[in-house]
Amino acid sequence: MTALKIVLTGATGGIGSAMAQSFARAGHRLILLGRNSDALAALQGRLQEPSRHQIMLADLSSAATIASIAAKLAAMGEIDVLINNAGLSDFGLVADLQDDAIAQMLQVNLLAPMRLCRALLPLLSSSGNAAIINIGSSFGSIGYPGFSAYCASKFGLRGFTEVLQRELADQPIAVHYLAPRAVRTTMNSPAVMAMNKELGNREDEPEIVAAAALQLLTQRRSSSRYLGWPEKLFVRLNALLPNVVANALKKQLPTIRRYATQHRGH
Ligand SMILES: NC(=O)c1ccc[n+]([C@@H]2O[C@H](COP(=O)([O-])OP(=O)(O)OC[C@H]3O[C@@H](n4cnc5c(N)ncnc54)[C@H](OP(=O)(O)O)[C@@H]3O)[C@@H](O)[C@H]2O)c1
Repeated sequence: MTALKIVLTGATGGIGSAMAQSFARAGHRLILLGRNSDALAALQGRLQEPSRHQIMLADLSSAATIASIAAKLAAMGEIDVLINNAGLSDFGLVADLQDDAIAQMLQVNLLAPMRLCRALLPLLSSSGNAAIINIGSSFGSIGYPGFSAYCASKFGLRGFTEVLQRELADQPIAVHYLAPRAVRTTMNSPAVMAMNKELGNREDEPEIVAAAALQLLTQRRSSSRYLGWPEKLFVRLNALLPNVVANALKKQLPTIRRYATQHRGH
């Protein structure tokens, strides 16, 4: 595979660092974005041929910082791939949602990827191997009780990605939406992990997502990929027969509500 220059947000997180390891092993060059310079430097040091990779401090929680990140990236020269991976989650009932948590969620999970895609499109257009991978979630297709702001952000990201795939259909930029099911990272609080265990919701290792992302880099056609069985079936079932999924989730509701309110300290 041609060595690609890849911008990766959320690089020091669970899925981000698994992707960084796997892309570096495949010979790609990375620009690792994160909020913690020590964690970024440590990650860079663990990668194959550390000097091939660069790190950049990047807090994605405001439009102004994203504009300056985009300008710095543009000054660094050609870029082949943008991976919008940074994200956060929040577990709790709608009644307990805080204004600042809603705003932060939409900013990092939805507005930042939209703004980075827009800002980097001119750079990507000049690469012969251009690709964007937006990391979604099965919760970008299934409204799951307890995850309203997260689902809203990922539904939005899926919609944005679908439009971008169609707007760029006649151009050589592959646009991918990659939607994992639950993944074993610190994004999931102990309450979420305990609930998943009780409900039998399976979790993947971050390396599963990294392998899927690496495979997408070899694919020139835009695509949307959902990971994990039976979650990928539920995504389709929810689109075709939403009441079937709603009825199944209604049975889980007492358990979900118990963990969601425990988590809030009620
Ligand atoms: N874990 C799951 O169950 C799961 C399932 C489906 C989809 N996903 C998606 O996978 C992606 C990666 O999640 P993960 O599981 O690897 O979670 P994680 O380990 O918590 O990593 C999240 C990353 O996002 C970064 N981030 C958060 N807020 C940020 C901000 N304001 N500015 C810049 N970066 C910020 C974090 O940076 P710091 O290191 O500086 O905190 C961290 O690197 C997310 O988009 C998530 O929605 C996760």
